[in-house]
Amino acid sequence: MGFIVAIDGPAGSGKGTVTSILAKKLKLNSIDTGAMYRCVTLQMIRENVSLDDIEKVKEILEKIDIELIKENDNLIVKLNGEDVSKEIRENPVNKMVSNVSAIKEVRLKLVDLQRKMAETQDIIMEGRDITTVVFPNADVKIYMDADLEERAKRRFKQNQEKNIECTYEEVLEDMRKRDENDRNKEFGALKIADDAIIVDSTNMSQDEVVKKIAKIIKNQKKTKKLEPEIYKIRPETKWKIVERKIVKWFLRTLYKIFYRVKVSGEENKAKAAEQGGYIICANHVNMLDAVAIVVFSKETIIFVGKHDLGRIPILRWLEHLFDVIPIKRNQQDMEAMKRCLKTIKDGKALAIFPEGTRKGLEKNAKVKNGAAYMAIKSGCPVVPVGISGSFKLFTRFNIKYGEPIDMSKYKVKGIDKTKEKELQDQATKEIMDAVVMLTK
Ligand code: DC
Repeated sequence: MGFIVAIDGPAGSGKGTVTSILAKKLKLNSIDTGAMYRCVTLQMIRENVSLDDIEKVKEILEKIDIELIKENDNLIVKLNGEDVSKEIRENPVNKMVSNVSAIKEVRLKLVDLQRKMAETQDIIMEGRDITTVVFPNADVKIYMDADLEERAKRRFKQNQEKNIECTYEEVLEDMRKRDENDRNKEFGALKIADDAIIVDSTNMSQDEVVKKIAKIIKNQKKTKKLEPEIYKIRPETKWKIVERKIVKWFLRTLYKIFYRVKVSGEENKAKAAEQGGYIICANHVNMLDAVAIVVFSKETIIFVGKHDLGRIPILRWLEHLFDVIPIKRNQQDMEAMKRCLKTIKDGKALAIFPEGTRKGLEKNAKVKNGAAYMAIKSGCPVVPVGISGSFKLFTRFNIKYGEPIDMSKYKVKGIDKTKEKELQDQATKEIMDAVVMLTK
């Protein structure tokens, strides 16, 4: 599998144009999946096949041949060998394509074709379900958005340039209907993946959007290349122990010079440790809070950190020194999970920011269930931590540890996945309520 950039978004969000520019700039093969659904629709129109005639639809799918060819920066779409690039953007197809793309058989066939396209090449693929269904584990996941009126304006302009006859009102109405259909269909609905980066282009120029996404892609490419380095585990030698002590002392001194750090409730860590390993859950305000938790603790604290932080050499060195567990946020990272569970089993303290991002509480970020899942699975307690302060130089910031929370009440045997998830949600809520109280 090559390097995969997945871009989703509603019609007219600019993803088509941006995808073509990025493909050229970053040497990726662009795939417009909307054009594929449009080809199936055109063939159905030509063969006079109605939406509910599934047998006929299947026949079409069996013999259809779609080619997406780049020629001098233009996308040439061929349907069974014929250039249909213009015809698939005209009104008859526009009106029907959303309904065609809701047919399960059509989706299964096209999703399969799309996955095959990524087997041998680096791609940038745009559509509606690329980040959620086609490639939920894509290297980069972007959701592009813009206000409905702005999107209709852009599409109208595009149509004029391509000499496609229409009025602005028609385009707006068509887009409104399509939004509604695309968002509510049973299969392959347009959704925002939890871990997609949202780029709202309403008030951004095309150049700004391209720059922003190009930077994300370049960083991710760099991270991927460095993965063998990032995932290295530094053996626990005598020198590593000494080095860690020196670095802890040095960073503590820096903190004391530049901030007034107040740590309270430390006895709660000792209480939790009576049972063995435990999990520390804190709110995340600033990069500095994770380091402060580690360097102001007598115990060894093993943090879980975004794996792309390891792209920066000094952070990579620190992560290796303090055995930080790198985690890929855009997928179920089983490797990281295993290392976390082993850390707890070994009787150590594992530290996690359940918000998964800085200032998650302020941003109303969706809190992740990972900490609750591991605490319930391993039966270990959770020590909530509240971080508060402005992180401005020479001001005070507080690290407040709360009473350990017993998670055993959430461990119920013989329940189904839905109930299990409900219990994890409740456990996460209990943890985060305690964290929030400690920030006050
Ligand atoms: O991006 P577009 O407007 O050319 O897409 C045409 C239609 O196909 C649109 O109504 C949504 C649908 N589509 C889809 O359901 N899944 C995709 N991956 C791409 C497009």
